[in-house]
Amino acid sequence: MGGIFGFVSKDKLPGKVLFEGLRRLIYRGYDGAGYAYLDDKGKLIVRKKAGHIERIWRDIGITEISSKVAVAHTRYASRGWPKDNNTHPLQDCKESLAIVVDGIIKDYEVIRDDLIREGHKFASTTDAEVLAHLLEPVSGKEKKIENIIGIGRTVDGVYAFAVLFQGDNRLYVLTHGQPLVIGIGQRGFFISSDIPSLHGFAAEAAVLGDNMAGVISQDEFKVYDILTGGEVKQLIRKRVKYPAGLWDKAGYPHYMLKEIYEIPHALRQTINGLMDKYLRLAAMIIQGAKNAYVIANGTSLHAGLVSLYYFADLAKIDLEVVSAAEFPYYGLEHVGTGTVIIAVSQSGETSDVIRSIKLAKQRGAVVVGVTNMVGSRLTLESNVYLPISAGPEIAVPATKTFTSTIATLLILAAYTGVHTGQIGQGDVRMIYGEMEELSRRLQHELSRIDRDAARIVDAHNNWDNIYVSSSGINYPVALEAALKLKEAAILHSEGIQLGELRHGPMVLVRPGFPVILIKPYEEQALELYDKVVREIKSKNANLLIVSMDDEGENIVRTVPTIKYLAPIANIIPLQLLAYRIGVKLGRPIDTPPGLAKAVTT
Ligand code: AGP
Repeated sequence: MGGIFGFVSKDKLPGKVLFEGLRRLIYRGYDGAGYAYLDDKGKLIVRKKAGHIERIWRDIGITEISSKVAVAHTRYASRGWPKDNNTHPLQDCKESLAIVVDGIIKDYEVIRDDLIREGHKFASTTDAEVLAHLLEPVSGKEKKIENIIGIGRTVDGVYAFAVLFQGDNRLYVLTHGQPLVIGIGQRGFFISSDIPSLHGFAAEAAVLGDNMAGVISQDEFKVYDILTGGEVKQLIRKRVKYPAGLWDKAGYPHYMLKEIYEIPHALRQTINGLMDKYLRLAAMIIQGAKNAYVIANGTSLHAGLVSLYYFADLAKIDLEVVSAAEFPYYGLEHVGTGTVIIAVSQSGETSDVIRSIKLAKQRGAVVVGVTNMVGSRLTLESNVYLPISAGPEIAVPATKTFTSTIATLLILAAYTGVHTGQIGQGDVRMIYGEMEELSRRLQHELSRIDRDAARIVDAHNNWDNIYVSSSGINYPVALEAALKLKEAAILHSEGIQLGELRHGPMVLVRPGFPVILIKPYEEQALELYDKVVREIKSKNANLLIVSMDDEGENIVRTVPTIKYLAPIANIIPLQLLAYRIGVKLGRPIDTPPGLAKAVTT
């Protein structure tokens, strides 16, 4: 994975435009950054270095340049170590072009061996460098776009790239399974891996679909279908409008903390961003389905698991929730006309999700997408999609997108309940009202919850191998909390169903062993809960509790709300706990080593 940003402009633009663009894309990779531009004489200049853009920007002098055409990249090292030579832009033997690539090239060893036999010399160990050498003969020629289309037809993989040639004031781009958008600014065009990063540079974005190639000059851009070679006249266009300061840490030491504090506001945005007509359409599709699956990965999968309870309770519909990574091996034989896939992905780019929905669509399924990224692959592949509108999330550990995804799925389930006749419009209004109330309460109580979490983290030192457990609708919250502890605090943790604790895992619980219990919402589970609390206490374990109604030394009290919103109220203290433990242990909270925000290849 990687982030691509660039521009072609009538006037010279300062390098800080590139810096800002890359800074907004660091969630796509932070192992190295670089850029290429043409100087006044048309000479191609390339600078790059391994390391996080915010650490290396002075070394590569990114803010010191100005140019009318430039391209930049932030790298996630998937093939080839995070070293200077593997950082993009990559070049051909003659250094006549500079290419930035997001994604992977399949069978690149074979292409590479062929190119070496032809006399090419490779400077890196990345797969993407083959593209630079394949394009070498094109450099200096007039009709480069035909050759670029040819690359899209012949080179297998999942990738997008942008290339800048010496002496040519245009940018060439290609999409083959990875995203790229063209921002339409007042005095020029911008390219980026996502729409939000274009904020302030372009008012509108044209979204390139799969298998498209484009040439962008100062005055116009032309896009071609790689498969037919024909010009694509109508691209999907989206407005680029986000509040100012969205990418600043705004005084917070980490993006993760800032994004947790943004949850109350994000929830209100989610409510406001969901449109009645699309909710109705999605609900109608789900209500009429023969069978329905929720597919997602990681945090989105946990949100999907919460939605099981929503659809079962509110619409009397039994969904199957499956990891998108397993779906091709699991449910496919039952997928056909009449199947609905609710595909959930914050980034909208996760390759497991995209692959699974493509397979399901081939069999006649209809796809309802739920995503934070309008213009993403998921929105392009869905029959109807619902935006969660949480705003850009930079930290790799997802927080506000989890709560906004849950809110979206709850509203969707409620609309579906109205369609199936299980609930009335009044119930839907009640849910909206409770959501707004929760957002207000959280706004008032978040700092207090944070202080409570910090106090508990300060008071204990044994943070490793943590059990997180609950029952009913809060069980997926335990799974999500364990994932947050892994990502933000980089320690081992496990989410376990409350009842299952007594079927084996309890054997590890000994004096000082950290166990976090989320008090279940369901009355029927409380007897078991009390029993488990007693057992853990009798073992002198380090027991912490998240509860809506209890207070005490080792208890973090969260805000009270209805059962359906309890997962939102309960995950916040747990996200804060993971964050505070991560800080105590000196972890790189926003950018855990070896993890990218979305797994796109
Ligand atoms: C969340 O904290 C993780 N970074 C990860 O599990 C993530 O949720 C997963 O990769 C799915 O991403 P998506 O929602 O963008 O598809």
